[in-house]
Amino acid sequence: YPATINISLSISATVNIESAVIMSSLLTAAGLSATDFLANYWQKQPLLIRQGMPEVVGLLVPDELRELATQSDVTCRLVTQTGTAGEIWKVQDGPFKPRDFRKLPPLWSLLVQAVDHWSLEVADLWAILDFLPAWRRDDIMVSLAPAGGSVGEHFDQYDVFLVQGYGSRRWQLGQWCDADTPLQPDQPLRLLTSLGTIQLDVVLQPGDVLYVPPGLAHYGVAVDDCLTYSFGFRMPSPGDLIERLADHAPSLLHRADQPVRDREREPAAQPAQVGEADLLHLRQQVQALLDDPALWRQAIMSVLSEPAFADHLPEPDDLAPAELREALESGQQLRLEPAACVLLDPDQLIWVNGDLLADVPLQPALLPLLAGQTVSWADQPLSEEILHQLTLLYQAGALLLEDTDD
Ligand code: SIN
Ligand code: CO
Repeated sequence: YPATINISLSISATVNIESAVIMSSLLTAAGLSATDFLANYWQKQPLLIRQGMPEVVGLLVPDELRELATQSDVTCRLVTQTGTAGEIWKVQDGPFKPRDFRKLPPLWSLLVQAVDHWSLEVADLWAILDFLPAWRRDDIMVSLAPAGGSVGEHFDQYDVFLVQGYGSRRWQLGQWCDADTPLQPDQPLRLLTSLGTIQLDVVLQPGDVLYVPPGLAHYGVAVDDCLTYSFGFRMPSPGDLIERLADHAPSLLHRADQPVRDREREPAAQPAQVGEADLLHLRQQVQALLDDPALWRQAIMSVLSEPAFADHLPEPDDLAPAELREALESGQQLRLEPAACVLLDPDQLIWVNGDLLADVPLQPALLPLLAGQTVSWADQPLSEEILHQLTLLYQAGALLLEDTDD
């Protein structure tokens, strides 16, 4: 199956170089520099930016989202609300059949995850947020709801930019929440018992953006048939990193298998007793062993480059270097596969979907590709070194080949 399905006849599956390089108007529309935004809003305060992302207007219409939600491999959910006061919430996992959409109660929301993995035009929207590192990106979810539809009053653990794509939605922002904030019992969604004091109450029109930091209660209700894009971010938990350290320690630390030598010891008074000094000695020995920069780099890079949805990745393709050269010389272009996670470590080594690609630093000519641009080699020489690295990236599922759009 194709890695990227063309979700609409009006949306071309290919992107030309000019449209792939979107100049970010987002912070300019807010009258802020990226430095101001990061210092004063990011993870701290909400921010409303009217017409911050006009690029989304008209990109998708409701029928296209419904159609996407019927494709196998697409990750989506349907939230419905019934009962006299809309108090009975239900969540069903997709994909769905067209008939599932015909027998809906009046209040529902269709949530499609990672629409950026299926539409290159949607994937290109990340460029607007490229003042934030790619390792913080999760996915672009798009929701569809009729008037009154919502997913309830809730908070998320992650940063999100809510962007109105079609129709309008009213957003209310409330209290700051944490793990102790009361939730409604026995609901299939994490719903708050209260939004708390409302600190913002606005209706977003197509192109408007609302940045919501982690932990802030929010409630978005569709005013009419509406599509809302959620640019979600992620952060690794210490638990993820500890797990990965444990996975990599045995192969990276040759001393990991060596028994810990005994400490200076006095005679045992009670042979069953493990003393504080024994605990401390063993802990210090292991901590000293773990304090290894190569181990930490490997564990952290492999966690950060984990793909958000591994089952959205294309099937492996062992295209040979000569075939790739031919494709590029005949005018085909390369760009990042949107479902893949491709990151550079501080030594410019390339990590793809949790693994180190090779022990060779990135060829500087490939920087634009890693920054999300579509790149052509039809008119420039393709060295063996670059071709080799492109082939490795392509075979690892990090790149897409596409026809020139003309
Ligand atoms: C929605 O689009 O309905 C929900 C998005 C969110 O609250 O994070
Ligand atoms: Co939310």
